[in-house]
Order: sequence, then C-alpha cells, then structure tokens
Amino acid sequence: MSLGTWKGQGVLVDFVVLPAHAVAEVPRGVRDGPAAAGLLGVAGQTSAVLVQAAQLRKEQRPLVNGASGGVGYVLTQVLAGLGVHITAICSGKNEDLVRRLGADEYLASTVLDSDDGKQFDAIFDLVGDRQLYTHSPSYLDLGGKYLDIEAGPFGRFKLDNWLPVFLGGTPRAFTPVFSYPSGKSATEAATWVEKGWIKEMVTDSVYSMEEAYEKLATGRATGKIFVNVSLRRPFRINS
Ligand SMILES: NC(=O)c1ccc[n+]([C@@H]2O[C@H](COP(=O)([O-])OP(=O)(O)OC[C@H]3O[C@@H](n4cnc5c(N)ncnc54)[C@H](OP(=O)(O)O)[C@@H]3O)[C@@H](O)[C@H]2O)c1
Ligand SMILES: *[C@@H]1O[C@H](CO)[C@@H](O)[C@H](O)[C@H]1NC(C)=O
Repeated sequence: MSLGTWKGQGVLVDFVVLPAHAVAEVPRGVRDGPAAAGLLGVAGQTSAVLVQAAQLRKEQRPLVNGASGGVGYVLTQVLAGLGVHITAICSGKNEDLVRRLGADEYLASTVLDSDDGKQFDAIFDLVGDRQLYTHSPSYLDLGGKYLDIEAGPFGRFKLDNWLPVFLGGTPRAFTPVFSYPSGKSATEAATWVEKGWIKEMVTDSVYSMEEAYEKLATGRATGKIFVNVSLRRPFRINS
C-alpha cells in the first residue's frame, strides 16, 4: 500500500516500502508469497476489522453476503473458527465452496422477507446491496449491526445510507467498515492460520494487470485475484 491507495489511485508493484507498523510476519503453514498476500493483505485485514466490529458470541447467527469473494472466502472461514452459525449468500456455482469454507446454510438470493423466518444477529454485506439493507428490519435483530464494506470510508455520510436511518425507513444501524493497512490486523489474520481456521486459500486466477482489472470489474471473482506484474497482455486499441 502506498499514498496512491489513500488517494484512491491504487498501486500494483513488485516492491513497496512500508512503515514497520504496517507489516506482519508470515505464519508457518503459508506456502508462498502470493498466498501470504491473499490471506494477510486486504482480505484478511478487512475480515479482522469486520469481526472486531461485529463482536459476535458463539452460536450467534451472522449472514454473509458475497461469501465466495476475495474478502468473503477469508471472513467465512474465520466466522466458522469463531463457532457462529453462518448463512452465506453467493451464486449457485459457489454453494459447495462456501459450505466447505464453513457456511451452515446457503441462500441463493438476497431477497429475503419476514415470511422466510430468518433472523440474524449481524449482516456482513460484502457486495453493497442496498435492498438487503432497506429490507433488513424483517430479518436483522433490532440491536444487530449491518456491516458494509462497499460504501467506503465516508459511507456513513452518503445521503442514501443515512437518510433511510434518520427517516425511520430502516431502523437498523448501518455500519460502514473500512480497513487501512495495519500490521495489527495482518498479525490477527496470521493467528487464524496458526489456529488452523484457514483451511483453504481460494485463488480466482493469476492475471496480467489488465485482465485482473477486467475480472475485478465483473464483481464475480471467486476468492482472490492475483496480479503478476511481469505478465503482459498484448496492447489493444479499443475501436
Ligand atoms: N472497506 C474496505 O476496507 C474494503 C476492503 C476490501 C474490499 N472492499 C470492497 O468490498 C467489495 C467486495 O470486495 P471483494 O474483494 O470481496 O470482491 P470480489 O472478490 O469481487 O467478490 C465479490 C463477491 O460478491 C458476490 N456477488 C457479486 N454480486 C452479487 C450479488 N448481486 N449478490 C450476492 N453476491 C454477489 C460474488 O459471488 P458470486 O459470483 O458467487 O455470486 C463474489 O463472491 C468491493 O466493493 C470492494 O471494493 C472494501
Ligand atoms: C510471473 O510471471 C513470470 C513470467 O511468466 C514468471 O516467470 C514468474 O514466475 C511469475 N511469478 C509468480 C509469482 O507467479
């Protein structure tokens, strides 16, 4: 991570200079550099901030929307390690995967209502589905947190996020969660590996930069997208 990330420009490089407080030791049992980056980087660190914010107790029931993605595949395994009862949402092709990662229940759709009889203690929305939020009073406990990572650091201040809350349309706490590069969060993610909670490193694929961004933009990655900056795709002029 660099200043570029903070300015919203992102950065993909072979080498980067980091302050000591932003790094963690790679735990034993992580095979290679890409696996370490995939687990302890953005995915692990965001998962760490999410579980910290949710404060779930054993047996409680979270819903994870987007459980098969870059953040979801880590978060689901961590929640399983914490011993909570997980309901996962993703597309059907990934049902087996999210069950293997620890989901107790699977839903194919985010369209839920009170007739489904579902009740959750927390919702982790890794997709940013406003409908899932606005309908949440029928399935999220009154004190339950709606944790969203898609809205970004200023999500709380976006009109369409806080207005429904204040107008009483959605009387549930909308909690935007944002992770910043932190050695503390990365170290926490390393402890999950040591505890044996991370059973699977899910790799979407290894791409050139261009292909990686194209895949990312589909919003349908399964696990982590890896970029090999040495890979070059032939330059193409769009007509
Ligand atoms: N706040 C932060 O600090 C932070 C950190 C990391 C990422 N983010 C943001 O969080 C979001 C998720 O990141 P990511 O890396 O996990 O993304 P990703 O790897 O692209 O994963 C997206 C996941 O969402 C699922 N999905 C896509 N559309 C869906 C829909 N309509 N309903 C239900 N599930 C759907 C996909 O699963 P299927 O294909 O199986 O449906 C996939 O598992 C992105 O917007 C990213 O920018 C924020
Ligand atoms: C990246 O691609 C280059 C060129 O194909 C290859 O030599 C290198 O081993 C790859 N690196 C990783 C980490 O996969």
